[in-house]
Amino acid sequence: MKRNIWIDTDPGIDDAVAITAAFAADDRLNICGISAVAGNQTIDIVTHNALWLTELLGREDVSVVRGADRPLIREAYHAGDIHGAYGLGYVNPGGVSRQLSSEQGAAYIYQRIMELPQEEKVTMVTIGPLTNIGLLVRAFPDAAQKIDQIVCMGGSTVEGNITATAEYNIWADPEAADMVFQSGIPIVMCGLDVTMKCILRKDDIDTLEKGDDIQKLLSKMLTFYFDSPAYKGMEAVAMHDSVPVLYLLCPDIFSGEAHAMRVSCTEDMCRGMTVIYDGAYTYANRGLLKNVFVVRDVDGSAFRRELMKLLMNVRRP
Ligand code: RIB
Ligand code: CA
Repeated sequence: MKRNIWIDTDPGIDDAVAITAAFAADDRLNICGISAVAGNQTIDIVTHNALWLTELLGREDVSVVRGADRPLIREAYHAGDIHGAYGLGYVNPGGVSRQLSSEQGAAYIYQRIMELPQEEKVTMVTIGPLTNIGLLVRAFPDAAQKIDQIVCMGGSTVEGNITATAEYNIWADPEAADMVFQSGIPIVMCGLDVTMKCILRKDDIDTLEKGDDIQKLLSKMLTFYFDSPAYKGMEAVAMHDSVPVLYLLCPDIFSGEAHAMRVSCTEDMCRGMTVIYDGAYTYANRGLLKNVFVVRDVDGSAFRRELMKLLMNVRRP
């Protein structure tokens, strides 16, 4: 039985790698749909990239929906310096011929997951800011009954990457993230604790370059990373967004533990910080659930091997 997944994304170079890996595993994953959310780039750019990626991979059958164009409360902050003007590094995706399924992000996600057969559920794979999913769980509380878990690239209990304390996806929309973490839905938090250990190296990019058109495009995207301020001079790049996908495909290479988590929604240096709340006095009094499995560690060589296997073997149907 394939696992139903829904991908919420802001493509984004590492999003593109993760989406390719997910489609490469279509013997195990049934991608019910893809929703775009403003993050790495504007909603127009990330929505276009999501459409373009499904065409590149020959999967125009998978719905793509345009989601939130900005966080619930905060101003949008795009990372053009890291992901490029078109959001895919050195790749200019050009035109797409397929249409959007809807421009009503959260409402469309709700409609589609509620249409699933009664006995089926969906795993939400979130690899961008959580604006769409925060709207979904708040506007449509009964959606939770159809979601078995949310495997989220986001957060950190170690250092941050957008600030000293916060990881970008959570920092970008902390209110939405806190709604999701408090929704009671089981969460798997793939934060910087583990994603910084999930890397591809320059020789992997060279290997991709020797592949077919899909691999060559991924190589062009990833080369931009190595030239970007985030990774200039480094020998490896973190494949943050592929971690939720690999967690679903090979959970045994990961380890972690369950906690109650809150998200700091302040305006100060703690904005977007994901806080382990188990020991807090209010934890006991608020009946907070330890519903967040915080992934802490990974067999990094197994991750790299499995991700490269997926990327090198992806084929159009
Ligand atoms: O912090 C890493 C996250 O921010 C990834 O999802 C990357 O695509 C960016 O959105
Ligand atoms: Ca992303």
